Amino acid sequence: MRNVTIENVTDVVINSLGQNGQITQRNREIMTGLIRHMHDFCREVKLQHDEFLFACDYLARAGQLSSDKRQEFILLGDILGIEVLVDMLTHPATGIESESSVLGPFYRENPPVLPKGASTVQKAFDNQESVYFEGHVRDADGKGIAGVTLDVWEDAPNGLYENHDPDQPDFNLRGRFETDENGHFAFRAVRPVPYPIPDDETAGELLRAMGHHPNRPGHIHFILAKDGYRTLISQVFDSSSDWLDNDSVFAVKESLVAEFNKAGEELDQDLYVNFDFVLKPQQASAAKAA
Ligand SMILES: [Fe+2]
Repeated sequence: MRNVTIENVTDVVINSLGQNGQITQRNREIMTGLIRHMHDFCREVKLQHDEFLFACDYLARAGQLSSDKRQEFILLGDILGIEVLVDMLTHPATGIESESSVLGPFYRENPPVLPKGASTVQKAFDNQESVYFEGHVRDADGKGIAGVTLDVWEDAPNGLYENHDPDQPDFNLRGRFETDENGHFAFRAVRPVPYPIPDDETAGELLRAMGHHPNRPGHIHFILAKDGYRTLISQVFDSSSDWLDNDSVFAVKESLVAEFNKAGEELDQDLYVNFDFVLKPQQASAAKAA
């Protein structure tokens, strides 16, 4: 009979993998690492049984909270910096292509398709600052890419995304744009404001346990897509926003920070942003993965 000890339990569990059925190589790799790191974690902090039971109850509550409106585990992964780490591991920036950032929980598929230069604003707020946002999407050689779709979405000046605010019109501050034959895109929007991620329930418990605030700096979300290129999920941050150096989900990257400057009169907007993206060919990342 096997005598399980604090010292050998990790090897015992890892050696049991695949003993009673086939497992894939990837599952073996993931489970081996997971078991080793979790056991080491328990030994390192000398985890006590009441703390283990608390963790089980906490995860059960997080699961019960999750729905198609609230994905609590993504939120917990964000607060712990795991989503941003996984994103960087999945999409390493290896050249001059634009850096990615987390998708976040507020994306909606199939936003309104709008012509170049149109506005995503369906409802005016007293304190809003209007923005003319334009730029080019290029390949690694600097050539503009035509026909790239850009999904953009952001929070309103009250700090809420429209799908979390019954007082905003459907799809307010969301739109799908396309680059022209030169790779140029443009749209009108509002200056994004800092907002707190949901900080009630289990996400709030975790933030308090870490001694963290829930705030994110002002940003506009983007998804850029075109056949033949790797889809880019990213965010562009306002360089003058609060919380830029202290994002609650750790998603800020220097290359994604843009200046929101005073706009010229001809634009009839308060602010002007020029920001370019560089896309990577799809085959380059496929070849790398292979
Ligand atoms: Fe966001």
